Amino acid sequence: MIALAPGVRTSLSGPQTKSMTHYLRLKHDAILVGAGTAVADAPSLNCRYPGAGLDAQPRPLVVDPNGRWVVEGSAVARLAAEGQGREPWIVSLRGNKAGAAKTMMVQESPAGGMEWEEVLRALKAEGIDSVMVEGGATVINALLAKPHLLDSIIVTVAPTWLGQGGLAASPADMVVEGQRVNAASLQETSWKQFGADAVLCGKPAT
Ligand SMILES: NC(=O)c1ccc[n+]([C@@H]2O[C@H](COP(=O)([O-])OP(=O)(O)OC[C@H]3O[C@@H](n4cnc5c(N)ncnc54)[C@H](OP(=O)(O)O)[C@@H]3O)[C@@H](O)[C@H]2O)c1
Repeated sequence: MIALAPGVRTSLSGPQTKSMTHYLRLKHDAILVGAGTAVADAPSLNCRYPGAGLDAQPRPLVVDPNGRWVVEGSAVARLAAEGQGREPWIVSLRGNKAGAAKTMMVQESPAGGMEWEEVLRALKAEGIDSVMVEGGATVINALLAKPHLLDSIIVTVAPTWLGQGGLAASPADMVVEGQRVNAASLQETSWKQFGADAVLCGKPAT
């Protein structure tokens, strides 16, 4: 589980794994979150690893098909104005509200919404070669069902239970020939402890 409830900012990881997250941000061209996280958490989406200058900052990306996230006045926009992060970019179906951020338009899929293949293609066309997807649940669940699009998965496990009704990060159930089967798995796994948390790394099994 990744939050107490949808839209509830929840403290989970300890200082060591937070630091690891910032180190990983340093290693990517962009950090991506969905509109739900951008609106609920007001995330900074910058890299606060010691010594990370503006050149090392990843591009904040918000997948916001309906222009729900208001860029103006956001933490991301403020940090960019202060030189502590890059200007955010938005991936959208219909354009963004404030009009202040660069917006990449993606065609609506026949089923409605966006196809992740199209989103990644649009980012590649803008020179983004590596993306760290941070959440939230809708984004993670959709991508776990598309393992062929993912290079690696890193899961921080904090020693706490959020309780029933928490926001689960899990792909939809999978049925093959009428039988429920495991929905997603990792291979080439490794575990490492940082402080009180454990970190699981692996490659998605395709
Ligand atoms: N523990 C952690 O590490 C962590 C990390 C990040 C977030 N979170 C938590 O996750 C929660 C937010 O999760 P969430 O599921 O509500 O929001 P989310 O996954 O951040 O964003 C979901 C929204 O993004 C848009 N979207 C994403 N993919 C799309 C696609 N393929 N096609 C069309 N639209 C797409 C949709 O916007 P529209 O609804 O406007 O169409 C969708 O509702 C928050 O409580 C946050 O605290 C936890």
